[in-house]
Amino acid sequence: MLICNWKMYGDLQLVGLYKKNIPYSQNLIVCPMATLCSELKDTFKVGGQNCHQEKEGAFTGEISPLSLKEVGCEYVLLGHSERRKYFGETNELVIKKAVTAKECGLTPIICVGSNSEDIVQIKQDLIQQLPQDSSFIIAYEPTWAIGTNKIPSLDHIDQIMQWLANQGFSQKVYGGSVNSENAQDIHQLCQGLLIGRASLDIHSVLTIGKSLEIWN
Ligand code: 13P
Repeated sequence: MLICNWKMYGDLQLVGLYKKNIPYSQNLIVCPMATLCSELKDTFKVGGQNCHQEKEGAFTGEISPLSLKEVGCEYVLLGHSERRKYFGETNELVIKKAVTAKECGLTPIICVGSNSEDIVQIKQDLIQQLPQDSSFIIAYEPTWAIGTNKIPSLDHIDQIMQWLANQGFSQKVYGGSVNSENAQDIHQLCQGLLIGRASLDIHSVLTIGKSLEIWN
């Protein structure tokens, strides 16, 4: 599984480049800004980057999970570290969002992470963020690896992925400075990759997608 998190980048031009150059794969999920989801949904599997914890209400400026579903999203990223850091999203809120999103027919991808490089500390941090329901997809993103070109050792990723498996989570994704050089090795250790900057570059998406064999 390759998940492209465009963050607050990308526009109709990038939509056009994706449509022209990147073949459909059931293992490719594109998560653009909510305003672009409907533009991509006929060509790719699409996910939102966030949604509200309620299905509807007087919450000006928020995005309902029902509306994401209506415009063609199948997935939604929740609790990305940027949401936790800049928008104050708490563990409880993220889980609530995930439960509502699932009720609306979306598949939530719950992002969890830690500032630490110490495996014991990381596990302590992650356990606070994990949902009870182990059917959710979990994306492990060390905060210090996001946007930095620093990645943990493969042994670190392996230990955390195995620990998540022991907690009952079978769908685990890694994110944080994934690029065309490191994608294949990291993908051996989990079920998918979540890419940020690399998702904005068509060539990188194609190279990473090929190394993950998403078109085989
Ligand atoms: P980068 O791949 O740019 O480090 O971003 C990772 C990320 O936050 C994906 O959700």
